[in-house]
Amino acid sequence: MTNKELMKLAIKARENAYSKYSSFSVGAALLTKSGKVFIGCNVENAAFSPTCCAERTAFFSAIAAGERDFSAIAVCGGNVGESRIKCMPCGVCRQVMSEFCNEDFKIIIEDGEALSELTLGELLPFSFNL
Ligand code: THU
Repeated sequence: MTNKELMKLAIKARENAYSKYSSFSVGAALLTKSGKVFIGCNVENAAFSPTCCAERTAFFSAIAAGERDFSAIAVCGGNVGESRIKCMPCGVCRQVMSEFCNEDFKIIIEDGEALSELTLGELLPFSFNL
């Protein structure tokens, strides 16, 4: 699967975002090493802190389905009704990624018209792991 194809699935997943409180909707598409894709969107809550980001929604869905090996995640986001902007995974999601992925795990984001590919090692150096 190409980065572009994975991003297309993230863009589609974003349509399901429940972003009632921030009006910022995010989509994610997580690729397993076996070639399966798990999608996620942000799911907000009136109490705010129970909100789950798109990336974690995708990870937890994949983990619940028995997956443990991941190669890449595509992430996109923006204000509802406006064009998408460069959307980087938050620190909490980076930490969740580091629980299951090595430093070479790929994070694909939209950077203007182009796609950028970063690694988890670049986004979360010196991560905490037991
Ligand atoms: N959000 C994500 O889903 N992923 C990110 O990487 C950044 C932030 C969500 C959380 C919240 O629902 C909204 O975007 C605004 O912070």
